Amino acid sequence: MQELQSSLTKVTQYLDPLLPLANAHTVDFIVEQLWTKKLPPDILQEAEGVGISEVIDQLWCLLANETESCSDSCKLFDFVREAGEYVIEELNGVYYVNDLMNILLDSSSANLKELVEVTEYMSIKKLHEVHIMSHVVACLAEACKSSVVVDIGSGKGYLSSMLALNHNLRILGIDNKPTNIDGAIRTTKMLEKKWRMYEKKSFLKGKYSETEKKFGKTFEKSRDDGTLLNQNVESSTKPTVLGVSYKHHVESVSSQTDIRGILSEAYPDEEHSILFIGLHTCGNLSPNSLRLFVNSDLKRKSIINVGCCYHLIDEEFTSAPEWHLRRLMQRNTERMDDPGFPMSDFLRRQKFSLGRDARMCGTQKPLKVFKEQELNKATKPLFYRALLQQLLILKCGPSNLPDAIVGRIAHKCDTFAEYATKALKKLNVEIEITPAELDEFETNNDEDWQRMKIFFLLKTALSPVIETVILLDKLLYLYEQGIETAFITRLFDPVVSPRCYAVIAIQK
Ligand SMILES: C[S@@+](CC[C@H](N)C(=O)[O-])C[C@H]1O[C@@H](n2cnc3c(N)ncnc32)[C@H](O)[C@@H]1O
Repeated sequence: MQELQSSLTKVTQYLDPLLPLANAHTVDFIVEQLWTKKLPPDILQEAEGVGISEVIDQLWCLLANETESCSDSCKLFDFVREAGEYVIEELNGVYYVNDLMNILLDSSSANLKELVEVTEYMSIKKLHEVHIMSHVVACLAEACKSSVVVDIGSGKGYLSSMLALNHNLRILGIDNKPTNIDGAIRTTKMLEKKWRMYEKKSFLKGKYSETEKKFGKTFEKSRDDGTLLNQNVESSTKPTVLGVSYKHHVESVSSQTDIRGILSEAYPDEEHSILFIGLHTCGNLSPNSLRLFVNSDLKRKSIINVGCCYHLIDEEFTSAPEWHLRRLMQRNTERMDDPGFPMSDFLRRQKFSLGRDARMCGTQKPLKVFKEQELNKATKPLFYRALLQQLLILKCGPSNLPDAIVGRIAHKCDTFAEYATKALKKLNVEIEITPAELDEFETNNDEDWQRMKIFFLLKTALSPVIETVILLDKLLYLYEQGIETAFITRLFDPVVSPRCYAVIAIQK
């Protein structure tokens, strides 16, 4: 526990002075002059002295390790490199397990089954996640002798159906949206119908598909050991899992959900030992899943939880109004769960807060998987939105700004004039300005787009540091609650699925 506390302290001490930068809202980039107010002074000086595009070129050059052709001094690169020292993989704690898949594949209990080819139902990203996570879940369920797997926030049921059909596990999928459960039932029915055909196809192919090869190293061992499809290939009967080994329940899960009661309805004749799982449990659902795991009165239990959408987490120590307002509104009407961050007493004693924009920044794709060519595409929508804000303030005045949200329209627009016309219509704001004037407005502010790129890169460099704080806090909470076997591991390839870390805990 002490080692984990020291790591967390190291990361929060580094991050604390940078939180104003991480929380600076890009919409206000131009109007609030964030370039001069929030940028670290040495980076500002370098960008204004050497030139922004030169500094960015230096960064890519140094990141690509082409040191001979790069200048030996780049403050932006120094910032990125330093931030990289405070990410979970670099902290070298015993609580972080590298290459869990390979450990599982080496272990004698690992009974790897190929994922049959079901690409028509899932995106490449989902297939990647389901392939890896279903294998890890199956291994853990076997090691912990779990009788039921409870999939919290099961969504359209991609993972659950695969666990039931491919790994013969007993599943209870819980989601708060009935439409998602209906979708999961529909998908599983189709999968049941086509399952034998899928198995046969995978068996005949005898090797991984191009899609799976893309995911790389993680799968090499499984490919070598030849445990391709299983004994069921010969069978022609349609498998039936729905309502038998794969059941559903609609409920909004909280840290106090009566999981024992729900299970005794779904699978009555059992003394349950549960494996809780959650793939991309968004916002508070991830911390609440961990609390539910701790609180539930079960003999044997374990959990694999992957969080996402950190911006939707409620923070306890924040000055932002949304959480307090909701708490006030819901007081006396229903029980509210505890805030999602921080979870550990260690950070709660410090009243540590990240802030909404910093958490939003924590959901950004990390710089190590970000490609140079993506910079224009990533920053253009941010620049257009900041430029629109400036236009609105000029034309409507700072106290008359519309409340409505512009939304994601920038990627469909080639020019600011096009964007502003669509955005103003959406905001229901009438401004007298011609397309030519809007074009001129864009050209006159082009320097701000270049500045925004540096700002974006700095925030992107902080993204995995913020995620590290959220992850370590969750793990420390588990340790504080007396869960001794708990660790963090990376499950997915971050290029394919950036929210790739799982918190795993076992209580026997
Ligand atoms: C990001 S989706 C992930 C779905 C699924 N696990 C997957 O990876 O495809 C999160 C899911 O959690 C569900 N959810 C969110 N909050 C919930 C809560 N408090 N209780 C139950 N389900 C919840 C949502 O309806 C949604 O289906």
